[in-house]
Amino acid sequence: MYYLVANWKSNKTHDDVINWFDEFDGATSFSVNSGVQTIICPPANHLSTCAERIRDLGATIKIGMQDISCYEMGAYTGEIAAAMVADQIDYVIVGHSERRRYFGETSSMVSMKVDQAIGSGITPIVCVDTPYLEEQLAAINQRLLTQCIFAYEPVSAIGTGEPDTPGHAAQIASQIKTMAGEVIVLYGGSVNEDNLGYYLNQKELAGALVGGASLSARKMKGLIAVAAGLY
Ligand code: PGA
Repeated sequence: MYYLVANWKSNKTHDDVINWFDEFDGATSFSVNSGVQTIICPPANHLSTCAERIRDLGATIKIGMQDISCYEMGAYTGEIAAAMVADQIDYVIVGHSERRRYFGETSSMVSMKVDQAIGSGITPIVCVDTPYLEEQLAAINQRLLTQCIFAYEPVSAIGTGEPDTPGHAAQIASQIKTMAGEVIVLYGGSVNEDNLGYYLNQKELAGALVGGASLSARKMKGLIAVAAGLY
């Protein structure tokens, strides 16, 4: 199984989301391919629109969020707690470098988010990077490591058009597995239709976390077609 995670970040109006799904429609035939699990992570305000559109497509696409509260439901203004969205999402991205950089997210907060997500039956997709790999993994409740998906996302590759080499990404993925156990590891950072196949061909990598390219339904269809073709 290959995983393709679309991280829309802080993009798209309601109309943009509708247009994206209109254009994505033709992808249904291969998005239901058993070899590819597509996970769309829209901004939280679009969760139900995405759910409706996916239902209409009859596709086996899953939905995720891009972040989750460290805390349970309660007096935490602005936060979305895992229990509030447990019936809407299957996955959540945690510890993305943009959250660490712009919102002061620390490894101990990431660990709390992992606890909250797993406690509500949501699979965390934990973003990690060198040179902090050991510290980032050590912060997570060791008992929960094998229930996480990891995404190796080098900051220098995110949104820059300068991806890491597939060989180096595979090497980091195997370091993650040495520390965390037999876990699913994805690569993220400037993935596109032309380079995706090189990452999927690395046995240590099970898929990709895609930002910029996922904003276009046409490019997302292309990515799914590449993954389905390799499976
Ligand atoms: P990018 O972003 O594909 O635009 O490089 C990846 C990510 O930040 O998850």
